[in-house]
Amino acid sequence: MFPAAGLGTRFLPATKAQPKEMLPLVDKPIIQYGIEEAAAAGIEDIVIVTGRGKNAIEDHFDVSVELETFLEARGKQDQAAEIRSISRSLAYVRQGEPLGLGHAVLTARPLVGDNAFAVILADDVIDATPGALAQMIEVFNEVDGPVLLVERVPREQISGYGVIAYEPVREGVYRVTDLVEKPKPEDAPSELAIIGRYVLTPDIFDALVEEAAAVRSGKVQGEIQLTNGLRRLLARRNVYACEIEGVRHDTGNKLGFLKAVVYFALKRPDLAGPLRAYLEAVVGGKEGPR
Ligand code: G1P
Repeated sequence: MFPAAGLGTRFLPATKAQPKEMLPLVDKPIIQYGIEEAAAAGIEDIVIVTGRGKNAIEDHFDVSVELETFLEARGKQDQAAEIRSISRSLAYVRQGEPLGLGHAVLTARPLVGDNAFAVILADDVIDATPGALAQMIEVFNEVDGPVLLVERVPREQISGYGVIAYEPVREGVYRVTDLVEKPKPEDAPSELAIIGRYVLTPDIFDALVEEAAAVRSGKVQGEIQLTNGLRRLLARRNVYACEIEGVRHDTGNKLGFLKAVVYFALKRPDLAGPLRAYLEAVVGGKEGPR
């Protein structure tokens, strides 16, 4: 499940007429990295929770017969095959009102049914081998309970995240004892922040229904948060968190986005050499090579 209904206001004006999930890291839209990660983890059924103005995501993953025919007619078989490999059958559900991440997850409940499922926040692009989700599913099978991805974050940045309190299970795996959404640095129960990957069990939906009711009645202020739904779930079952080997880019902010573009460009044999030379020259105060 890919919640993708956000308005992308941090990237205006670029996101005025195009979804932020479609901004490219080199030549691949952000959301395609996440979809490929899910596919590599063996996930076949994908639901995208969208909103108004997100049609470009649907078109991107649709078959484009014209484009394939055009490329094939010009002898570009490799490019045609690449374009074909992007298309897949996805399901879309509209969130309607932007009431929070927990609400987005609840919106997709009818499509998930009584199955375990993963939530991917496409903003967090993770370069890992095996992929982040594949690593998490291994932990899920081991602990037999919901697994959140966490990363150690400096205290001064912690208020941008959901944060866990925990007991260690083994190296890199924790049992969650509490969760707080976006705490002040001094109130954070640890430095382990939730990153945008969750492998969940369907009992999260009832916990989110309770959380939604608490928000509607005014008992809980603010949005319907997934973190708060997970906190309710803690009363009923064990919830786990894991760290993985990999590099995470938060492409949801401008600096993180720029770093990700440079990172992925430097991994490309056709771009790495000239880009490195250009960056070194610019950093050295010279005009870059042309
Ligand atoms: C969401 C979650 C937060 C999590 C973060 C990870 O926040 O609410 O708990 O740490 O994603 O990216 P958002 O970034 O949507 O504000």
